[in-house]
Amino acid sequence: MLEIILKSLFMINMIKVTNNYQEHIALIELNRPNELNALNLQLMQELRDALKALDQDDAVRVIILTGNKKAFAAGADIKEMSGKKSVDMLKIDQFSTWDQIKKTKKPLIAAVSGFALGGGCELAMTCDMIIASESAMFGQPEIKIGVMPGAGGTQRLTRALGKARAMEMVLTGRFMTAKEALEAGLVNKVVPEEIYMQETVRLAKEIAAMSPLATVLAKEAVNRAHEVHLEEGLHFERKNFYLLFSSEDQKEGMQAFIEKRKPRFKGK
Ligand code: HXC
Repeated sequence: MLEIILKSLFMINMIKVTNNYQEHIALIELNRPNELNALNLQLMQELRDALKALDQDDAVRVIILTGNKKAFAAGADIKEMSGKKSVDMLKIDQFSTWDQIKKTKKPLIAAVSGFALGGGCELAMTCDMIIASESAMFGQPEIKIGVMPGAGGTQRLTRALGKARAMEMVLTGRFMTAKEALEAGLVNKVVPEEIYMQETVRLAKEIAAMSPLATVLAKEAVNRAHEVHLEEGLHFERKNFYLLFSSEDQKEGMQAFIEKRKPRFKGK
């Protein structure tokens, strides 16, 4: 018992959450700068909990996930994993945490500068959009340490880049520059390092000005495109479309258009 109390007293948070309620935006910063934001179990659990809380907070409409200028995240924590056996990994079941993160309903934008490697690249790809600084480097270097991607890299990278490029990255562990990632369609925009956060906030504000109900349902429908057959995806989209006609935001949005004014969305 004493051990648990002491541990919680000295536990250092590995992420930092800042809410800007006025703009309806929340910012999550990965905060292990000395380890290039290596994603250990504690950090991932904190991230999962923070996202869950923000998802339930009506004042928040868009979430930004970032690291620092040198690293978004240099992958899962190799030191934490190195001695583990298959059964240990199975019991730890870290991917249930990743599964929860993937379930975030609100739009999630990654602001990436520096290294986004291994689990770091996978985490960025789990987000809905990526704004990259010119210094961003994406890669799946697991092959160099005798393993392979485990948090979606082989699937998401292949969907984003196509088989040939994904295969090359996964089998050689080579990094991709921000410019290459943009050309390949992995990221939305590349901007100078000094303004990558500013640019991400600009995008977040633009989305936060929309009806939060519509953004959540639209995100859900876009994500279906990769998961189901076209017919089923279209059916899903239609249901979400109809659902929005029960919202005050739909009435407000369309009325504002007719009255030639800006809509005031309330998320109702
Ligand atoms: C643990 C890490 C780390 C990692 C960096 N560090 N990456 N610790 N896990 N993934 C630590 C280093 O040990 C070092 O600590 C400090 O961060 C600074 O790193 P350096 O290597 O000194 O910096 P630099 O020379 O600039 O090289 C940067 C780098 C290199 C190229 C990013 O650190 C690197 O190759 N990192 C590992 C990248 C990787 O293989 N990622 C995939 C991991 S597996 P000290 O104490 O020495 O100062 C993975 C599987 C995902 O992600 C599966 C799903 C979860």
